[in-house]
Formats: sequence, C-alpha cells, structure tokens
Amino acid sequence: MLKQLSEIEQEINSFSITVEDELESFRLKYLSRNGLLPKLFEELKNVSKEEKPLVGKKLNEVKRLAEGIYNSRKAFLEESLSVKEDADYTLPGRTFSIGTSHIITQTLREMVKIFREIGFKVTQGPELEEEFYNFDALNTPEYHPARDMQDTFYVQNKYDKEKKYVLRTHTSPVQIRTMMANKPPLRIVSPGKVFRNETVTYKNYFMFHQIEGLYVDKHVSMRDLKSVLGYFFRKFYGADTRTRFIPSFFPFTEPSGQVDVSCFICGGKGCKTCKETGWLEIGGCGMVDPYVFKAVGIDPEEYSGYAFGIGVERIAMMKHGITDIRMLYQNDVRFLEQF
Ligand code: DAH
Repeated sequence: MLKQLSEIEQEINSFSITVEDELESFRLKYLSRNGLLPKLFEELKNVSKEEKPLVGKKLNEVKRLAEGIYNSRKAFLEESLSVKEDADYTLPGRTFSIGTSHIITQTLREMVKIFREIGFKVTQGPELEEEFYNFDALNTPEYHPARDMQDTFYVQNKYDKEKKYVLRTHTSPVQIRTMMANKPPLRIVSPGKVFRNETVTYKNYFMFHQIEGLYVDKHVSMRDLKSVLGYFFRKFYGADTRTRFIPSFFPFTEPSGQVDVSCFICGGKGCKTCKETGWLEIGGCGMVDPYVFKAVGIDPEEYSGYAFGIGVERIAMMKHGITDIRMLYQNDVRFLEQF
C-alpha cells in the first residue's frame, strides 16, 4: 500500500487544475466518498499490525496534500472567475502601446531603400575593426596627419599582438572589405554605427551612424557620383532639392569633395537651420584614390570608382527639427514616440 500511496502522491502533485471541471474531477477522484483516499482508509483495517502506523501516517499525509491542493485551487478559481458587481462592461478594453522603430533606424531604412531601388546592394562590416581596414588600407598610415582628423577609440588586444583594433571611426573600412572579397563591378551601400572619442555636446556624440557608398567599375567618373547623390537627395528631401560639391580632402579619395544640399527649410534663401547660408553640409565623397585600389589588389588603370559617406544623425535631426543629438540616445519615450 505504501507504494500505491507514493504513486498517488505523485499524481496529485502533477494534476492540472486550471478550470472548474478539472477541480471537480480532482475532488471526485481522490476526496469524494467513493474517491481513492476514503477507500484506502477503509482498507487500512486489512493492513498488518506492524505496518499499520507507517501506512496510516502516510495516508494522512497524502490526504492533507490533496485537500490542500483542492482548497487552494478552488479559492484561486473562485477569485479569478468572480464577477465584480460594479464592473462596467461597456468600457473599452485595456490597450497597450506597441513600440516604434527608433528615428535613426527609420531614417537608415528610408535611405537604404532609395539606394536599393537604383541597384546598390547592402553590406555590413564589424564595429570593432582592425586598424588596417579603418586606416592603413584607406591610405592613412600611422604617421599620416589625417589620423588626427578623427579621435579614435583604440582597443587593446591581448590575444593577437599582430593585429591592432579600433572602434571604427567611419563606415569607410567596409569599402576595403568589399573590394578585397569581391571583383568589380561593385555597387554597395553600408549603413552602421561609428565611434569617436569626442566630448559630448548638443552636436557631437561619441557614437553615431553613417551610410557609406561605393561604386567601382570601368569608366566611373565624377559625373556618376554627382548624378547619384543628386538623385538621392531629391528623392529624400523633395524634388526641388539641389546639391553642390565643394573641394575637400580625404586620404582615400582623389579628388575629394564635401556634399551640401540646399536647405529644405528655406529652399536656399537662408534661415536659422542653414545658418543663413542656404546650404547644409551632409557628407564627404570623392573618386577612389589609386593607392586604395592598390591596397586591395584592383588595377587603377583598368577600374575607377566613387565613394561617399553620409552622416545619418544630421540628416534625421534636420529633417525633424531636432536640435540636440543627445536626445536621440537618452531613450526618453516621450521624445522617441513622436516619430
Ligand atoms: N569616412 C569619411 C568620414 O567619416 C567620410 C567619407 C568621405 C566617406 C569621403 C567616403 C568618402 O566614402 O569618399 O569623415
């Protein structure tokens, strides 16, 4: 009988009681007058004298367990089923709000979509990047003064003394990775996070996003670059948007340019957003430097290419009139849910 009792004990413990019918089956099976436990009590008289105390004790234990489970489930079910008399059933149900994508994610998607429509493939690279891809292969060796253009987070690497790592300071290393792994023609955009060791202010943050573009083929010229970026900004800011290119310098492009778009707030007349200039600075661009082609094993006599890098935060902030970059990353729902 002891064995039977411990089997019943196990059964009782795993009996599922989530609705009233199950509660009643439980009662009928174990506790009612014809239930298992009262029956076993009757059989107790047939148990030998020596065994009786032990069996009796166990039987009582199991009975208490069954009653305990029964009462607590009963109370729980009654509570959850009880109908509150003052409830107003015409009230609308409780709702909870569904989150939205972050404004930067939304902006990135919108930008990527426009480039995809005109044949650009999307690629990504690592945020923890080798110095080689972030600088050297982009024609920025260690002694090059352009390394100071970007305040870099250097990362110590205890395991592999050969490789030096940085948090990538721009998305341009993806150009190198793409050109090393694939043969031209290449047409990619690469969105992602970049990091700079900058003092945080209303206009600078230690992390932000860029979207990199690269097109390599035979006979690619500056004209292609201008037309693609012009097309992109007309799509993004509206058909009246104009673009202009100003000479600039980047070690990995020759010639290099700064891309400006006509201020979409004032249409170029001059206002607070564009600081009365009529233009907004949006990114850098240029023709891929032959030194970069050499570093990745592409013959600069045969191929040419253009590249560009656009800052995503600036674009999103200007489009939505956000004046402090820190707001984007404070995760204040009252701010974020506006977009
Ligand atoms: N990587 C540059 C930066 O972060 C931006 C840039 C300039 C990207 C020129 C390019 C380029 O691809 O061609 O400042």
